[in-house]
Amino acid sequence: MSEEVFISPRKHGRIAVLISGRGSNFTRIHDAVRDGRIDAEIGLVFSNREGAAGLEIARERGLETIFLNPRLYPEKEDYDREILREIRKRGIDLVCLAGYMKVLCPMFCREYRNRAMNIHPALLPAFPGLNVQRGAIDWGVRVSGCTVHFVAPEVDRGPIILQAAVPVLPDDTEETLAARILVEEHKIYPEAVRLYFEGRLEVRGRRVRIRD
Ligand code: GAR
Repeated sequence: MSEEVFISPRKHGRIAVLISGRGSNFTRIHDAVRDGRIDAEIGLVFSNREGAAGLEIARERGLETIFLNPRLYPEKEDYDREILREIRKRGIDLVCLAGYMKVLCPMFCREYRNRAMNIHPALLPAFPGLNVQRGAIDWGVRVSGCTVHFVAPEVDRGPIILQAAVPVLPDDTEETLAARILVEEHKIYPEAVRLYFEGRLEVRGRRVRIRD
């Protein structure tokens, strides 16, 4: 049986960004959209937290924002279904998880297969999940970094698009390491989105090739 191949569309895209907090990655993606590095527009900034600082930034930048209170949806699937509805309504091509701290249910991941990305502050497949910098320091790894990957039902396990490495220094705290990694996140996330809408991401199984 031949392997299924996905090639990202070359087009002017519409992006939804999902955030839970300060939104610095979202801001960098929007900066790249504004200065023309990414051929797309941001059609929605969504948050599961009303007080997410990134939502305020999005409003100041004139972007449409939505907050949905998860407590009103006892069934997680219903919550995600509601997000999907909002995303579909706006003709979104790519969902960018940018510090979105809720796990998306398999139904969402299936519908947005190859159309949703996440940034994670470690070199996956090492240190998935939470408390990632603590893990890197406790393991004594010499190198950590960040990963942009496609979203799959298995958390932090989707095909890897881009990675960047940073040293882990002997006197690092979780905060100093996170700050060093964040500098790289701000470079590779906009870059991955740019490549996506240039039609340059080719996915075969779990491998992503960047086309010339
Ligand atoms: C980033 O460091 C991102 O990698 C991490 O949350 C932070 C969000 O910062 N995401 C995860 O840990 C996902 N598992 P931001 O709100 O300033 O973009």
